[in-house]
Amino acid sequence: MKKYVGLLSAAGIAGLVSVGSAHAEGQVEVLHWWTSGGEAKAVGELKSAFEAEGGVWIDSPIAGGGGDAAMTALRARVVAGNPPTAVQLKGPGIQEWADQGALNDVQDVASAENWDAVLPPVLAAIMKYDGKYVAAPVNIHRVDWLWGNPQALKTAGIEAMPTTWDEFNAAADKLLAAGIIPLAHGGQPWQDATLFEDVVLGVGGADFYRKALVELDQAALTSDTMVKSFDQLRKLRGYLDPNFSGRDWNLATAMVMRGEAAFQIMGDWAKGEFLAAGKVPGTDFLCAPTPGDGYVLNSDSFTFFKVKGDENLKGQQVLARLIMSPGFQETFNLAKGSIPARTDVLLDKFDDCAKRSHEDLLAAIKDNTLVPSMAHEMAIPRSVRGEFLDLVTQFFNSDMSSEEAATKLADAVLRAQ
Ligand code: BGC
Repeated sequence: MKKYVGLLSAAGIAGLVSVGSAHAEGQVEVLHWWTSGGEAKAVGELKSAFEAEGGVWIDSPIAGGGGDAAMTALRARVVAGNPPTAVQLKGPGIQEWADQGALNDVQDVASAENWDAVLPPVLAAIMKYDGKYVAAPVNIHRVDWLWGNPQALKTAGIEAMPTTWDEFNAAADKLLAAGIIPLAHGGQPWQDATLFEDVVLGVGGADFYRKALVELDQAALTSDTMVKSFDQLRKLRGYLDPNFSGRDWNLATAMVMRGEAAFQIMGDWAKGEFLAAGKVPGTDFLCAPTPGDGYVLNSDSFTFFKVKGDENLKGQQVLARLIMSPGFQETFNLAKGSIPARTDVLLDKFDDCAKRSHEDLLAAIKDNTLVPSMAHEMAIPRSVRGEFLDLVTQFFNSDMSSEEAATKLADAVLRAQ
């Protein structure tokens, strides 16, 4: 309710402004889920840049990490015949909406600015439908990150960030003995699925990840490797505090900041939180890839829904150009914790975690160990992803055996296809 009141008044203000001439660069209503400290700072950069071009920005944030609430709100808006001008959307979701004829393309901007020449091909393919760009990427987020509090590790006598799951478990046992929560986590389905996919990559490797979480291969889903992955997930469950249920991801990050917990497994939007709180990488917090080889890819992008009105259409073109401009890609990603989607933006101003992300990304492309995030909607249709989230969360919150989890998962995936 509150959101619609907000929208109405914002639209009212926009109407008044248009009597003057500030609509020279169009108008956008932007639906996104960036509401934590670091996220709000990053989206604030986009808003300021758009307004600096004379555009009118109407903000429609839908709180809820991972974007599940935002996607529900989007569907309701489209069904009501009132889609937002620009929507944070990703992976196969882009193709699904394009398939329904809901999206405008921004190919004119993409051709004029030569996006093909500056985007990694793997990302460009996700942004296109029928050969035309229908989405503009803002960043590359890595999902398989482990964040650590150096002081907490020192107190428990842990010398380095773990590089295998056995090392992780040994470190976590030491933390438990020292009275420190080993792993900060929020019990929400998308966060449980984030742990799960990082563990699957670490336990099974990239080829196994791809077979199980992208190709949905039944043999992989029921394999011993999947059972072992659930075993490690069960281990992680034992390293949480009793209040993890329902906790937002950024509150889990805050536990690591305060040294209440030693580790968090989360994509590098967590770094955006550390930075927004004034924390210094390498000193106040540590970053390391979660155990295993590979790189779990997540990328945020904006799509442009079919809306009426010249100023809205103009707004879409301006926003698309702005999102892909090198200057914006630098400013935005310095705040968001991610790295630029454009390959030609220098990383001089970025920290070592970002530089590591970039190096590992290039290595993963070369070694064919780059995998798309299932939990963050880069890999499979929403309906199938929903089955993964349900099962993983059910496993996490019960005493289901790993064998039963693997069998149930394979069955549920089969049903959803
Ligand atoms: C998005 C990030 C966001 C995170 C938490 C991810 O799916 O890609 O941009 O910060 O969810 O909300």
